[in-house]
Amino acid sequence: MSPLAKELFNLLQSGELYSGEALAQRFDVTRQAVWKAINELKVGHLVETIGRQGYKAFYPYIPLDQKNILAQLPKHCVDDVITSMDVTSTNEEIAKLPLNKALVMVSEMQTQGRGRNGKVWVSPLARNLYFSMRIQFKMQALANLTSFSPALGIYLVEYLQSKNIPAKIKWPNDIWVDGAKLAGILIETSAKSEHEVEMVIGIGLNNLPLAEANLTQNRATSIYEILGQAFDRNILVADIIQLISKLRDDYESFNFPNIVELWNQNSALHGQKVKLFSPAREIIGTEVGIADNGALLIQQDNGTVQQYFSGELSLRAYA
Ligand code: BTN
Repeated sequence: MSPLAKELFNLLQSGELYSGEALAQRFDVTRQAVWKAINELKVGHLVETIGRQGYKAFYPYIPLDQKNILAQLPKHCVDDVITSMDVTSTNEEIAKLPLNKALVMVSEMQTQGRGRNGKVWVSPLARNLYFSMRIQFKMQALANLTSFSPALGIYLVEYLQSKNIPAKIKWPNDIWVDGAKLAGILIETSAKSEHEVEMVIGIGLNNLPLAEANLTQNRATSIYEILGQAFDRNILVADIIQLISKLRDDYESFNFPNIVELWNQNSALHGQKVKLFSPAREIIGTEVGIADNGALLIQQDNGTVQQYFSGELSLRAYA
């Protein structure tokens, strides 16, 4: 992103209307240069043109602010929080950096945001939260990490509920509100050495509407659509870091959350007829919970209950 586009990004955050003329004067550039920079922001779906009057942000937003986030965190909680304007994918970029204890990266946009199962995660400028945290565990924790992903999903759901959002979890860890997706989690785990396992936790949470049209078609929702106003993402980032840090400490000290019970309270599809599918197969049954290893439990019509692990599987309500 060009330096002028970044300046405009900071200026337009309040949602005020600025004419091309005023912007050109303010930054001492030509109207043409303003127009070019505005178009960079438009690629991120941030700015609208109001007839001949000028430009304004679709929705007011608060830019990500590293100092603000760090000020909310206890000391030594993370090595660093990196805030960026645009990256390919925060999950991808954070994996390349040196790590001591825990590292966090958030970006205003992603050009190649990644979802689960090889899907694209649409990541327009300033609208949403694109968050990655990289942590490590001692190798002894590995056997228990299969349940970390649903556990984190449940914790995030409970956190959102505490903010008056009626969030529910859909296996393995989609966050839903009234049948529409609010957030998704992509966890990538790798063995770092004989003694250590590393995890990159990527969270995408829709803060502002993804687009002005087709909202109901893509079955996505956002904090704005649910509460009538967006969150300050800086607070969200600090809260999520603390939530993950606590969960990591709990797993390291073998103090696991009771995910079986928490799942039943928070699952969007609990007790409902569901279809679980992958490119190769399809299973229809009733979602009856998860096991303490994090596997989904599906009861088939003959009464047998089978466990399924995430892999390539997707789950849907069965109409
Ligand atoms: C899903 O498909 O539900 C998971 C979506 C995860 C998206 C987040 S956004 C921040 C991080 N960086 C990525 O490229 N993906 C994750």
